Amino acid sequence: MSYNLLKGKKGIIFGALNAESIAWKVAEKAYEEGATIVLTNTAMALRMGETQKLAEKLNTKVIAADATNVEELKNLFEESIETLGGKIDFVLHSIGMSPNVRKGHEYDALNYNYLTKTLDVSAISFHKMMQVAKEMDAINEWGSIVALSYVAAQRTFDGYGDMADAKALIESIARSFGYVYGRDKKVRVNTVSQSPTPTTAGSGVNSNHCRKWSKRIYRLS
Ligand SMILES: NC(=O)c1ccc[n+]([C@@H]2O[C@H](COP(=O)([O-])OP(=O)(O)OC[C@H]3O[C@@H](n4cnc5c(N)ncnc54)[C@H](O)[C@@H]3O)[C@@H](O)[C@H]2O)c1
Repeated sequence: MSYNLLKGKKGIIFGALNAESIAWKVAEKAYEEGATIVLTNTAMALRMGETQKLAEKLNTKVIAADATNVEELKNLFEESIETLGGKIDFVLHSIGMSPNVRKGHEYDALNYNYLTKTLDVSAISFHKMMQVAKEMDAINEWGSIVALSYVAAQRTFDGYGDMADAKALIESIARSFGYVYGRDKKVRVNTVSQSPTPTTAGSGVNSNHCRKWSKRIYRLS
């Protein structure tokens, strides 16, 4: 059932790769609640994934952007404002990727080039996206920016590897940029800590530890 909670709001949603993606479900809900949105992902993901299918379903446009590339982010915000007919009210950063986790490098055998990539894609891209948006004054007052985090930012999970460092960093960026963006432009910045979910990025989460963690939460509740 829809309550038109986002009627008249304009949003950019990063990270819908396929129907399992968290961003995919958020985009469907936002559309259902009356928002107009633009979808974005890397050119490679747009070739390999199903984002275009979602765009057709939600009657919207897909704009390619690598979230680590400042020039592509500038173009994304420009085109989105043009497409949506005004400044942006909300942005979802639903991006994560660790070459170390993908290639099975344990935390005590990290490849440091991969670590740099993990941090850039999964955390620093959040800063880049907000810095570009703020410089362009692309977000309306009281707009909202949300990124996805994980409890591994605070606690140790075997197998989550350097993504734990990326999540600690993204939460820190949310606090620091949230202070500045709120003070200067009244834009809100938050992270949501997602529970383990079977998605392409989520396949890096060690399911045994997730099960143990869920049991522990269950025992504590
Ligand atoms: N699935 C889980 O269990 C879980 C738990 C906690 C947090 N999260 C977080 O949720 C977010 C979304 O992940 P998901 O589980 O939906 O997986 P997903 O694989 O569906 O989404 C990750 C997205 O990041 C995109 N991406 C990768 N590199 C990019 C780049 N350079 N520029 C722009 N986009 C890029 C991918 O194309 C993909 O669409 C991530 O931040 C992830 O860490 C997931």
